[in-house]
Amino acid sequence: MVEVWTPKSWRMKPVKQLPAYPDPAKVDAVVERLGSYPPLVFAGEARRLKAALADAVDGNAFLLQGGDCAESFAEFHPNNIRDTFRVLLQMAVVLTFGAAIPVIKVGRMAGQFAKPRSADTEVIDGREYPSYRGDIINGFEATDASRIPDPERMMQSYTQAAATLNLLRAFAQGGYADLHKVHQWTLDFVKNSPQGERFQDLANRLDEALGFMAACGITAETTPQIRETDFFTSHEALLLPWEEALTRRDSTTGDWYDVSAHMLWIGDRTRQVDGAHVEFLKGVKNPLGLKCGPSLDPDDLIRLIDTLNPENEAGRLTLIVRMGADKAAEKLPPLLRKVKAEGRKVVWSSDPMHGNTIKSASGYKTRPVDRILAEAKIFFAVHQAEGTHPGGVHFELTGRDVTECIGGAQAIEDGDLRDRYHTACDPRLNGAQSLELAFLLADELKRARVQREAERRAAVAVAAE
Ligand code: PEP
Ligand code: CO
Repeated sequence: MVEVWTPKSWRMKPVKQLPAYPDPAKVDAVVERLGSYPPLVFAGEARRLKAALADAVDGNAFLLQGGDCAESFAEFHPNNIRDTFRVLLQMAVVLTFGAAIPVIKVGRMAGQFAKPRSADTEVIDGREYPSYRGDIINGFEATDASRIPDPERMMQSYTQAAATLNLLRAFAQGGYADLHKVHQWTLDFVKNSPQGERFQDLANRLDEALGFMAACGITAETTPQIRETDFFTSHEALLLPWEEALTRRDSTTGDWYDVSAHMLWIGDRTRQVDGAHVEFLKGVKNPLGLKCGPSLDPDDLIRLIDTLNPENEAGRLTLIVRMGADKAAEKLPPLLRKVKAEGRKVVWSSDPMHGNTIKSASGYKTRPVDRILAEAKIFFAVHQAEGTHPGGVHFELTGRDVTECIGGAQAIEDGDLRDRYHTACDPRLNGAQSLELAFLLADELKRARVQREAERRAAVAVAAE
C-alpha cells in the first residue's frame, strides 16, 4: 500500500524530544485553534528562497543564516529585533563585497523557540529540575511549576512570531535596508572598534559606487534592490504539533507548505531517517536544512538526502555542518566526497557554533571565537581541496552588546562573561564579534572566488587549444 503523507503522519513514527504535556487533549485543542490562524509566510516566498538557494549549490550565491539560539518572551523587544536584523545586514554587505555574489539573508528569527535537550533534567543551584525546552514549551525560571510544558505557550509564540515578522518585513522593504543608509547601521558599541572602522571604510566605498551608478542612471527608482532587500525566516522544526498546525496546502500548486517560516531545519538530535521529524519535513515543499554532526555516517547522509529530496532538486536541501574545530578536518571530507560522487545537489553551510561549546572555568557555557573561526576556515579549506562549493554560514548571534562568547578583538575573558550573559540557551556572538567574523569570512570567500576565476580561465584556455 502506498503511504499517503499528511501533516499528521509523523504521529505514526518514533519521535524524540517531544515534551511530555500533562494534558494531551489541550495540545490538540491548541493545534486546532492555530490551524485556523493565518499563515506566517506565503508558499511563494518559500519558493523564492529555494530558487535563491539553488544558486548557492554551484557557488553562485552565499547563504548567511543567523540569530538567537532561542528567542524568548522576556527578550521580545523591537530594539532587539532591529539590532539583530542590522548586524545581519552589515555582515551581508561585508560578505557581498568579498564574494561578489548575492548573499541570501535568513534569520533564526520569528519562530526559533523550541530547543532540543540532551537530558530530561538539569541541575540548577544544586537542585534537579525538568530541562528548559524553549519558551514555546516551558518557562526558563527554575521552579517546578514553570518547567511544566504548557501548550498555551504556542499561542503566545504565534503572536510573537507574527509581530516579529511584521517588523522584519517593514525593515526589509520599507527603506531601512536602503544601501544608502549603510553608515547608519553601525551599532553604537561597535562604532569605535576596529571592525566598526573597517565597516565605515567599506560604507564609504559603497557610497562612491552608488554615486557612480546613479550618474549612470542606476538609482533606487530604477533598481528597487538598492532600496529593499529580501529577508527570510527559519527555525528548527522541533515541536511537531506546532509545525503541523501551521502546515497548509498551497492554493496555487496544491503542495503542502509549512507556513511557520520560509526555511525549516532538522536538528542533529532528531535526524533519524525513519523518525518523526524526517517524516514531517519530507512532506512539505519548503527549503530544508539538515544539521550534520560528527556522528553522521556518509551512507546515512545519502539515505537522508534521498528521503528529504528524492527529486534531487537544487535549493531544497542545505546541509549545515557542525563538527567542532577539532573534528571538522577529519569528519567533513568523507561527507563531501560521498555527496559529490553520488551527484546529489546540496548547499553546504558551516555552523561553527554548535561543535565548539565549552564550559568556562567559572562555569558558563561559552564558545571561544578562535575555535569558531578555526572551524569556519577548515570548512573553506576542505571545500577547496575537494573541489566543492562552500555555500553558506550559520551563526548564533545578536546585535546586542552581550558577553557570551570569549575572545575576539574585544578580548572577552572568562571573568567578563557574567557582565552581560543574557542568552536563554547557547552563547551568541555579539555585534562586534559577528562583524569581525564576517570580515574574516569575506577574505576566505574572496580567495575562493579568485581561485574559481583562475580555474575557469584555465579551462577556457585548454578548450581553445
Ligand atoms: C541549534 O541550532 O540551536 C541546535 C540545537 O543545533 P544542533 O541541532 O546542531 O545541535
Ligand atoms: Co543553539
